[in-house]
Amino acid sequence: MSEANAPSLRARKRRNGAAPIVMITAYDEPTARYADAADVDVLLVGDSLANVVLGHEDTLHVSIEEMAHHVRAVAAARPRAHVVADMPWLSYHVGTDAAVANAGILIRAGAQSVKLEGGATRREVVRALIEAEIPVMGHLGLTPQSVLAFGGYKVQGKTRDAAKMLLEDALVLQSEGIYAVVIEGVPALVGAQLTLALDIPTIGIGAGPATDGQVLVIHDLLGLTKRTPAKFVRQYADLGTAITDAVSRYAHDVRSGGFPDANESYANPPELLD
Ligand code: KIV
Repeated sequence: MSEANAPSLRARKRRNGAAPIVMITAYDEPTARYADAADVDVLLVGDSLANVVLGHEDTLHVSIEEMAHHVRAVAAARPRAHVVADMPWLSYHVGTDAAVANAGILIRAGAQSVKLEGGATRREVVRALIEAEIPVMGHLGLTPQSVLAFGGYKVQGKTRDAAKMLLEDALVLQSEGIYAVVIEGVPALVGAQLTLALDIPTIGIGAGPATDGQVLVIHDLLGLTKRTPAKFVRQYADLGTAITDAVSRYAHDVRSGGFPDANESYANPPELLD
């Protein structure tokens, strides 16, 4: 079983012989417990909470309090995996003091590090968090909190200049001390180039096979999302259909009088039978 922490994850470069980092999102005690039992390295309490759990259209609609609420639930599973929590939109955009205070809320809720989106523009925030002894994971490429600025969910780094900019951003974040970086929605070659150029591990989602690890949203993997899965999603189960099937059978049994039966009812004490 893995017992990952920020320094041990930082050392996980595949080119140095390390095993790929396995990261998956979790939002509550059961998803954390079941995913941890599968021996993943990192549980991400992602701000995808907004879409996949709370039913919003994008990740802009989740607050630091809501994130902390779900970090607490994930931490209640006492996972062996490292717990990283997303800093939600606007929790780190309005000054470094506010960012440190908000990251502290997530750490006190049970996270062991925080993740934030963006490149060189986040330099001061990353520095302040690390000065406050909070390990930081970066997130570059198709950063979902930029959906309005990007004009949609579009693959990033598709031109030579854009790819170069991503590399510069990644190098700035690395120089500020982040321990790993998520690379999302870029051509496989860009994922490979960033992985080659960085000393810290890259964790890809739609970034090709060459990154130092992979991350998926657990609801996508389990077949529990209403949205059409992105190209990079591999669905390993169809729990949505399994849930509807199980609940349909329950509804049928209730309506037909088949549930509950004698075994599912408490025995009648003799005194009541009199
Ligand atoms: O919030 C999230 O689920 C994420 C992953 C897509 C990396 O940030």
